[in-house]
Amino acid sequence: MYTQSFNVPDADAPSGAPLKAVPHDTALQAHFDAVIDADGKIEPRDWMPEAYRKTLVRQISQHAHSEIVGMLPEGNWISRAPSLKRKAILVAKVQDEGGHGLYLYSAAETLGTSRDQMFDALHSGKAKYSSIFNYPTLTWADVGVVGWLVDGAAIMNQIPLCRCSFGPYARAMIRVCKEESFHQRQGFESLMTMMQGTAEQKAMVQDAVNRWWWKCLAMFGPPDADSPNSVQGMRWGIKRISNDDLRQKFVDATVPQAEVLGVTLPDPELKWNEARGHHDYGQIDWDEFWAVVNGDGPCNRERLATRVKARNDGAWVREAALAHARKQQQRAMKEAA
Ligand code: 3HC
Repeated sequence: MYTQSFNVPDADAPSGAPLKAVPHDTALQAHFDAVIDADGKIEPRDWMPEAYRKTLVRQISQHAHSEIVGMLPEGNWISRAPSLKRKAILVAKVQDEGGHGLYLYSAAETLGTSRDQMFDALHSGKAKYSSIFNYPTLTWADVGVVGWLVDGAAIMNQIPLCRCSFGPYARAMIRVCKEESFHQRQGFESLMTMMQGTAEQKAMVQDAVNRWWWKCLAMFGPPDADSPNSVQGMRWGIKRISNDDLRQKFVDATVPQAEVLGVTLPDPELKWNEARGHHDYGQIDWDEFWAVVNGDGPCNRERLATRVKARNDGAWVREAALAHARKQQQRAMKEAA
């Protein structure tokens, strides 16, 4: 389910035999290509190549998992928020992330993959979710920085997805982006308040920025030259802007915000390049990124264990709801007889 394969193994062929192309109708393919070329939308009941379907299930389900796992680092601070106002904002934000996960699971379900299959893929470690959520939130300033930088990076990546060629994903992203924009602003505002506070509060913000900055740059995914899915994703109108171009947009947008806030971005090579019309920045640690993506980050095990426990703890609720629905159906059938 999570492969990028354009071909499937021939059921009759001995193992190790070459893969055979999936047969498909040329007219349907031509229609699909024409819709994509005209920048139109593909809807769930439209014919689509299997590889397009698989790519969408992969990307949308990973995105949904990221939203759900992304509730954990901030949820960790709900009981310790410094005021009622901050607590109410944080509760609303974390709930929004849960809602985003649900829209996205629903969008992926329209492609014929069940929610249980997606959860199984997450819980067994087969499915990816964003690297960024495998880092801990050590202080209250981390909550502000997650809003400002993590949600800021998420919006940069997600606004182009509102124009994705797959209708349900594009429509879900419109609402998600509106809410993410509130998340980014509340993070910035919370940090701004701390930056007008004591020397300790300012130091706490700077420390959180130092710890999150490079991780946020890596969040956009590997450099274009090392991104196996980008070319086809862009050809299909799923991805609109490449990983490196989005990363550059994020750096350019964030530098002036850091100045307003009064924090230093932890990169000695960060400077405006007049000729390029962009900021240059230093080297991202891609070894660290891949270690985290492959399950070896500081919190990967804890995050997954928490999700599995939540699923198991909720089993009785799902069973009770199903039993209730069955009883209601039986009663309705009896009354109708
Ligand atoms: N974390 C984990 N895995 C990542 C990653 C990241 N930050 N960036 C890339 N990868 C993975 C890809 O999933 C892919 O693995 P796969 O082929 O096994 O699925 C591999 O690295 C190679 O990367 P590619 O660039 O070739 O992959 P894509 O073309 O799919 O691009 C992407 C990666 C830019 C993340 C794209 O999938 C995308 O835009 N996804 C939708 C948005 C999304 O998922 N955002 C996650 C954050 S959501 C969030 O932050 C919640 C908010 O509330 C804060």
